[in-house]
Amino acid sequence: MSLRDVSREALVGSVTLGAVFVAGYLLGGRKSSRMSISKSHTGGKDNPLLQYVVNHSLREHPALAKLRLRTMEHPSNIMMVACEQSQFMANMAKLIKTKKALEIGVYTGYNTLSIALALPDDGVLVACDISEEYANIGKPFWNEAGVEQKIDLRIQPALQTLDDLLTSGQAETFDFAFIDADKVNYDNYYEKCLLLLRKGGIIAIDNVLWGGKVVDASSGDADTVAIDKLNKKLHRDTRVNLSMLMVGDGLTLAIKL
Ligand SMILES: C[S@@+](CC[C@H](N)C(=O)[O-])C[C@H]1O[C@@H](n2cnc3c(N)ncnc32)[C@H](O)[C@@H]1O
Ligand SMILES: *[C@@H]1O[C@H](CO)[C@@H](O)[C@H](O)[C@H]1NC(C)=O
Ligand SMILES: *[C@@H]1O[C@H](CO)[C@@H](O)[C@H](O)[C@H]1NC(C)=O
Repeated sequence: MSLRDVSREALVGSVTLGAVFVAGYLLGGRKSSRMSISKSHTGGKDNPLLQYVVNHSLREHPALAKLRLRTMEHPSNIMMVACEQSQFMANMAKLIKTKKALEIGVYTGYNTLSIALALPDDGVLVACDISEEYANIGKPFWNEAGVEQKIDLRIQPALQTLDDLLTSGQAETFDFAFIDADKVNYDNYYEKCLLLLRKGGIIAIDNVLWGGKVVDASSGDADTVAIDKLNKKLHRDTRVNLSMLMVGDGLTLAIKL
């Protein structure tokens, strides 16, 4: 498949998922805000600049493209990571020579596959979710890409898995972690990931702008408050260097010092 074909497919996916997102948004009674940023899924028709970014940078592995299209058919597809964000994180992981990675929140495993593809043959990605049903959607595509042996899927609450890793003596052995599960536990995930990471390792945290709602978090729900609280804590946290990026729904990179 040529890169041109991949871009065209990505856009079809973006437009489809965009429609689903907009419908969900309206049903939820939320107004879209000027401040909110969009994923490639949600950018679709109404964000030509994002389209341009995706058209001119996305280089999806064929199995990733297929998994994305398969995920579009799933009712909760709004949960999928933005493709351009996933590619960025895979590039970051590779740049710091990641051999051991963590993912908290797998869903159908698009990003799981993207990171697994960036690992060396002897690399491992510990992938945490509570839903085997979601992960089962991704497994055939992990196999197709030939990386399933690098993915250590653990179906139980992620905090339990992180504690298991810590008690089995794996503190300071991970290079990269992606936090993308239940928002109220984000701070707990962050603290445990920080213990599991080596110096120079990166924790990537998704949804840190939460559709723009963090700007007025005081009137927000528990998820918004939790995200805003963690953002404020990270800004002061001298254990890490920090970047907050306006990619996807907002992505923080915390580099362990
Ligand atoms: C936003 S989705 C993850 C998207 C995924 N990273 C991707 O690349 O498409 C969040 C996932 O977190 C999972 N989750 C929710 N609570 C959890 C918990 N306590 N422990 C582990 N996973 C959890 C959900 O089942 C869901 O699959
Ligand atoms: C992106 O690519 C699609 C498909 O090739 C094309 O229809 C669209 O106009 C492109 N948009 C931009 C902004 O490049
Ligand atoms: C962290 O940031 C400080 C100051 O901005 C810089 O001097 C240092 O090299 C950075 N460390 C890492 C590991 O990026």
